[in-house]
Amino acid sequence: MSPSAVPAVRDRLRIAIQKSGRLGEPARALLASCGLAWRESRDRLFCYGETLPIDLLLVRDDDIPGLIADGTCDLGIVGRNVLLEQAGERARTGAAATYREWRALGFGGCRLAIAVPDEWRWDAAGDLAGKRIATSYPALLSQWLAAQGIDAEVVTLSGSVEIAPRLGKADAICDLVSSGATLAANHLKATETLLQSEAVLAGPIAPFGDVRAELAALLLRRLDAVLGLKDSKLLMFQADSIDVPALMQLLPDAERPTVLRVDGSDRVALQALCRGAMTWQRLEDLKRAGADALLVLPVERMLA
Ligand code: PRP
Ligand code: ZN
Repeated sequence: MSPSAVPAVRDRLRIAIQKSGRLGEPARALLASCGLAWRESRDRLFCYGETLPIDLLLVRDDDIPGLIADGTCDLGIVGRNVLLEQAGERARTGAAATYREWRALGFGGCRLAIAVPDEWRWDAAGDLAGKRIATSYPALLSQWLAAQGIDAEVVTLSGSVEIAPRLGKADAICDLVSSGATLAANHLKATETLLQSEAVLAGPIAPFGDVRAELAALLLRRLDAVLGLKDSKLLMFQADSIDVPALMQLLPDAERPTVLRVDGSDRVALQALCRGAMTWQRLEDLKRAGADALLVLPVERMLA
């Protein structure tokens, strides 16, 4: 679609997410936890927002930056690796940057790394001088090589990069590593890390000039609330009031603790929002320090 085909003013916000693959489902789940719900089109490529005028377009992840750049979509959830690669490619061709990362979303973590055959006695990045490196991330790899002062050949492949060394097409690769299973299966080992990546919310650099500005602001407020609650739990317990100072020492991440005196006794009931993971170990420590009737409750929403 050409930019001119897109109306300059729109009264609904359109978010591009990955149709299939690692980021699609968690992206939808995150938006749903922000109160969005949709009706799916029959071809399952478009989801019409029912609770708010915020629609989804389900696409290939590599298409997302371009869809934001040409205005077909307003926002997108995509890997930082894809966003920066395409921004780097645009910069190389002299195109102005039109989108940027708005928020890191805390899922889909992976890294863009150099990997070499297991038998390579790796010493330092300089080992890559004069070698051929296969990648689907030529802009990011070229930038990194230039920054390191390494002269190597970049072999651009659109997929199956991990088999390039075995096919004799390259000496090393530069690819995403998540669990490391793909590398291990191909007898490769990761060496240098070029970029830490995760899913991000991408959006335009220029502000929206219509109702989409308010919709985007609303979405960001809810996203920040949801992301801020990650791992948070409501902790409740009872204790003798004399033990409370020692118990609070064990809860450095507790926010807004409420202490209520239990009628006619020295006992108190305490509740606090805890930001860190509430592990069994922590609960057992609290129990030893005098806490009783411990309850850990999930926190679904918070409006401070
Ligand atoms: C990446 C990468 C590897 C795999 C690594 O692909 O290209 O194939 O994931 O993951 P692992 O370390 O857990 O084995 P991705 O899922 O991002 O798909 P895409 O690059 O084709 O979009
Ligand atoms: Zn992809």
